[in-house]
Amino acid sequence: MDGIQNILKAISKNIGRDLTKESDLVKIIGKVIDLDLNQNMDSIEIIGKFINRDISQNMDLIKIIGKITDNHIVKTIVNSVNENQNLSKEWLVDNIKTKMDMYDNPKICVAAGWYGMLADRMSTFTDKRVVSFDINSECAEIGKIMYPNVHFKTADIKTFSAKLYDVIICTSCEHFSDDTLNTFLESRDKGNCLIVLQSNNYFGVEQHVNCKKSLEEFKKSVRIRSLNSLEKRINDKFDRYMLIGY
Ligand SMILES: C[S@@+](CC[C@H](N)C(=O)[O-])C[C@H]1O[C@@H](n2cnc3c(N)ncnc32)[C@H](O)[C@@H]1O
Repeated sequence: MDGIQNILKAISKNIGRDLTKESDLVKIIGKVIDLDLNQNMDSIEIIGKFINRDISQNMDLIKIIGKITDNHIVKTIVNSVNENQNLSKEWLVDNIKTKMDMYDNPKICVAAGWYGMLADRMSTFTDKRVVSFDINSECAEIGKIMYPNVHFKTADIKTFSAKLYDVIICTSCEHFSDDTLNTFLESRDKGNCLIVLQSNNYFGVEQHVNCKKSLEEFKKSVRIRSLNSLEKRINDKFDRYMLIGY
């Protein structure tokens, strides 16, 4: 529950109205859209019709907020914890669990880590604070509210050194060139550093400047000693590719 409260805190800060003290769903919706909903609007479906948004009783609160808000940052906060994000991060964690046993309190770094959901999950493998860095300074500002245990930094992967870390993770490989990613990986200490990477074939998003057509193409583009390579279909829309190696 703490997790949801922190997400609500981050959303509240961005809409300028506090949602965290409210337990009534209709009142929360009213606050998000800044409208006094009258007493007849006591069902989610009726509110949905009134504001012309496709919402229903079966959706969780965060998903409903994502559907009714026009605030761009709030939409990205909601997207960062949506079902796809949860599934792909779970997939990653499940596949490295046994490898993490080989490390004692490793230093872990998540590159281009957005608001820090993955860094927060990786905290279970170490007593040290997991570092999540991102080029966008809003990620640190918002991430600190959502995941207070994560150590956020604002930095470009082009200049960030991976040398200090035992485990390096990047699930945003489609956001920069192969050269940028390989130069970053080259900066690691090559002794025993575990590397976990994800990319995808989700072409058509402006920021996705380096999608891959296949797992094989992704594997060929990265200079690591790959141990596992995996592929997963996400909601029938696109495939995610994952490489685990040293
Ligand atoms: C949308 S998010 C995460 C997408 C990823 N597919 C996932 O599911 O984890 C991509 C992040 O990469 C960050 N990013 C893009 N270019 C970067 C760079 N050069 N250095 C660091 N972060 C970068 C963006 O700011 C953004 O927060």
